[in-house]
Amino acid sequence: MIRYCKNIIMPVLVLLAGASCSSEADFASVALEQCIGQTRLALSHLDGDNMHSPRNIAPGDSVWSCREVSQELWTEGFWPGVLWYAYEASGDGQLRKMAAHYTEALEFIAKQPAYDHDVGFIIFPSCGNAYRLTGEEYYRTLVLETAERLAELFNPAVGTLLSWPREIPAFGGHNTIMDNLINLETLFWAAQNGGRPELRDIAVMHADTTMKYNFRPDGTSYHVAVYDSVSGKHKYSCTHQGYSDDSMWARGQAWGIYGYTMCYRFTREQRYLDFVCKITDAYLDRLPEDMVPYWDFMDPEIPNVSRDASAAAVVASALLELEDYVPDGRRYHDAAVKMLRSLHDNYNAVGTNDAFLLHSTGHRPAGSEIDYSIIYADYYYIEALLRLKSKN
Ligand code: GLY
Repeated sequence: MIRYCKNIIMPVLVLLAGASCSSEADFASVALEQCIGQTRLALSHLDGDNMHSPRNIAPGDSVWSCREVSQELWTEGFWPGVLWYAYEASGDGQLRKMAAHYTEALEFIAKQPAYDHDVGFIIFPSCGNAYRLTGEEYYRTLVLETAERLAELFNPAVGTLLSWPREIPAFGGHNTIMDNLINLETLFWAAQNGGRPELRDIAVMHADTTMKYNFRPDGTSYHVAVYDSVSGKHKYSCTHQGYSDDSMWARGQAWGIYGYTMCYRFTREQRYLDFVCKITDAYLDRLPEDMVPYWDFMDPEIPNVSRDASAAAVVASALLELEDYVPDGRRYHDAAVKMLRSLHDNYNAVGTNDAFLLHSTGHRPAGSEIDYSIIYADYYYIEALLRLKSKN
């Protein structure tokens, strides 16, 4: 077990780096350098087996706990995605080699029927970034094939992709979760890059139906919407990973903000832009002072419950895109920068473990990954930092 000399050193390192009070450009550079350093550190502690993918680090542990790559592991695209972003930030050929190595292991996702909706979460951070950075045809083909696998989950009577085929009996019908919006990027992108145009139509129908049934009039979200699989009629909406059916699960809302910003990117439909501003404001208005949400905004035990740094990272990245689409984008930009500085200053894993960020919450109602470092938090954090750097 690797031991770290804890955390008298870490805040000193962060302050010495001067990131807290620096210009945005300096802040982004310093924070990205830390991410590159942490990625190299993590690689030095992994055995290079690309059939096992970093998932989380428990409080008190220092190295990534890995899970076997399989159809059922929704997070296995994020580590290759982190490696691609670290390569993009550094130009380091060794990081590129390792990114390709971990991406290769995911080829099987494109080749067999989708276990569930998460195939987009797996393929876009890995193969999508790989194609963007290398232009290699192999990766484009894998994204296109995965889009077809994903489309097989579409139910035209409902107008959405089925999220969890295995949970139809438990929910009593076709279930569609907020998170599923992120998979639409694979469909939109595929339709624009040589895939069938119908993939885009599916994504649009899914986005429109989710807008109706996964949100309340005040812009807060339900995690799950359930429909009759045959008639397509909406039956009810509820939670799975949130505090209650009436609450706002932080990462669910974050997926919505990221998802509808991305829908606007591909469609330029004003309804998505209006909607994402509304749900973003519902989120920003309820944030605690340090801009990092508690795991669910309505947990009555707040402030004595876990935060979710991953939700903050997802939203920061989304806002750095959304700012470009609206006339008053500066307020979204400033909110994103505050989130990133807060994550950097108070949730930083440097000196504690091999991740970028501490204090995410995976599935609190199931008692799983509470106050952990989790790989998707790191993925959206480095993505947001790259977006910030590109603006300065
Ligand atoms: N997509 C599952 C989660 O956000 O935890």
